[in-house]
This record gives sequence, structure tokens and C-alpha cells, in this order.
Amino acid sequence: MADIVDTLSDAQAALARASETLGRGVPVAIPTETVYGLAADATNPLAITRIYEMKGRPRFNPLICHMADLAMAERHAVFDPLSRKIAEAFWPGPLTLVLPIRPESTIHPLARAGLDTVGIRVPKGFASRLLAAFGRPLAAPSANTSGRISPTTARHVADDFGAKLELVLDGGPAVVGLESTIIKVEDGTIRLLRPGGLDAAEIERVTGLPVLRSESAGATIEAPGMLASHYAPDAPVRLNASTVQPGEVLIRFGAAELPGEAQAALVLDLSPTGDLAEAAANLFGFMKQADATGAASIAFSPIPATGLGEAINDRLQRAAAPRG
Ligand code: TXA
Ligand code: MG
Repeated sequence: MADIVDTLSDAQAALARASETLGRGVPVAIPTETVYGLAADATNPLAITRIYEMKGRPRFNPLICHMADLAMAERHAVFDPLSRKIAEAFWPGPLTLVLPIRPESTIHPLARAGLDTVGIRVPKGFASRLLAAFGRPLAAPSANTSGRISPTTARHVADDFGAKLELVLDGGPAVVGLESTIIKVEDGTIRLLRPGGLDAAEIERVTGLPVLRSESAGATIEAPGMLASHYAPDAPVRLNASTVQPGEVLIRFGAAELPGEAQAALVLDLSPTGDLAEAAANLFGFMKQADATGAASIAFSPIPATGLGEAINDRLQRAAAPRG
């Protein structure tokens, strides 16, 4: 089992231990405001290979590279004025920008799966302190086995990887609970590659420009991680349920009661007050809790598709997609 080191009680010790481990080319699970990440030195090909191996992740799938701040990001990627404006407004935060890589960047091509672009994010909290201390970008996908639910606690991470992982930094439950929103600026237009923890309407408000959604499934090639059957619990998932089957787990929203609840194995409410940010923070943990009951299926009542509800419904669709 991995060592779980608390970042709150002794931040200095956690920083030193993490830097030493990362320096050996060994991945470390780190807290971020979105989800826990499996981080490795983005300039070290062996370290990156270890991330892919530990996750069982296809190597054509590029990783997000995390930076301490915008200045560090500018040393690795080319910022057009619109991307810079968006970065200044939302970093640190749950936003990833896909940008052209600088020829002099030390990010290894394995981290970007050979693409001439790189996904960059400046995270909040302990991760940013670690990045500043380590001094190099950290490639970090969500700290889960490929295709599984993203972890929002250190315990989720340790349980998933077992002895394969040396170190988990515990920063408490992830505040946002959904992966970052990914966008790409092209010819002055903003394309949404993945809805996530930053409401796209916020980007529209700051820029005065529409955030363009992909019209067809073909557009998802741009973000190869965004394929169906992702974020899947073990049990099959049923969406937009209007009744509960006996023995099923119900995950509902806004205190809306459903017929059949009395026979449910478990009823969880993502946010009794109908707060989408609270629902986002609870979503992945509730899916794991539902799975832990061993129930035959998990039913979700409808969740509004507005604001953060766009990203929540995106993850639910993937959880419910036919398994490959
Ligand atoms: O919140 C998050 O973004 C978390 C935390 C740990 O920061 N990280 C995360 O990383 O979700 P990951 O590796 O699970 O998701 C990376 C996504 C994938 O869909 C990948 O295809 C896309 O980002 N991506 C990365 N680089 C890209 C690029 N150059 N072009 C297009 N898509 C890219
Ligand atoms: Mg992931």
C-alpha cells in the first residue's frame, strides 16, 4: 500500500518527500482542486512511461502538463492574446488550455503523445507549491486506473493502485470534484474540448465570445481521452430514472423523491438544495459508494444541464455508455 502523507499537518515534509520521489522518476499522487492527479516529471521519458503503465492508459492519449504559474507555462507553450487573457482570468484554477508547444520546451514528446500542442493547467493549492518547489512541469492525468472513476480523495487513490504506488499526498477531499474544463483557441474562436470544473459560461463572460461545442463525435479526436465508456463504476448506470428498481442504488438531485425509493439499496442526494457545485464535488465519491454496495445497477435522476450541470451530465453519459 502507498504511503499517505498529509499535506496539511506538515507541508514542508510532504514537499521534500514528494520532490525527492519525483526526482527519482517515480510518480506521486497529488491533490488538486479538481481531482487527484498521478504526477510525474514531464521532462523525464521514463517517469512518463511509468504513468502510462500504472494507469494502463493508451499511449496515444496525451497528458495534461501542470505549471506553477503563467510565467512557467509561457516557457513551454505559445500563448495567443486570447489564450493569455483566459489564463490570466482563470489560473490557478480548473481550466486546461491546449496550446502550440515551444520548440525549446523541455516537456518530453511522450507526455504530449507526439502532438505539436500541449495541454497546460495551473492548479490551485498544494499542487502549485509542489510545482514551484520542484521547478519542472508535472504531467498528471487523474490518479485512477484507465477507464475508472477519477479519485476525489487520497483514500480512493491508495485503494485503486495498491502496492504499485509509492506515495499519495493527502490534501483532503477535492473541492471541485470534476476534471478541468479543456479549451483550445483557434483563429480567434474558443473550442470546448471537454466540459469540466470551470463553467464555460464564465469563459464567455470574461471574453465576450461564444465557447463553441463540438458538433459531431468526430471532433472528439482532438481530445482522445474523451471517448465513450470512461468514468465507469462497476455496476451498470441508468440515467434519467423516474422510478427505482428494488435493490438498486439511487443517486438523486435536489431532494426530488422517486417512486420505489423504499426498496432501494441506498439513496444518495448529490445536493438536497439543488446546488450544482455541491453535486459536482459529490459525484465521483457517490459513484464509488454506490459500487461498494454491490448493487446490480445505479439509477440517476435527471440533473439540470446548465452551468456545471453540462460537465456532470457529460460524465454521467460516459458512465452509462456501453462498455468496450
Ligand atoms: O482536472 C484535470 O484536468 C486532472 C487533474 C489531475 O489536473 N487531469 C486530467 O488529466 O484530467 P487526464 O490526463 O485524465 O485528461 C487529459 C485530457 C485528455 O482527454 C487528453 O486527451 C486531453 O486532456 N489532452 C491533453 N493534451 C492534449 C492536447 N495536446 N490536445 C488535445 N487534448 C489534449
Ligand atoms: Mg482521467
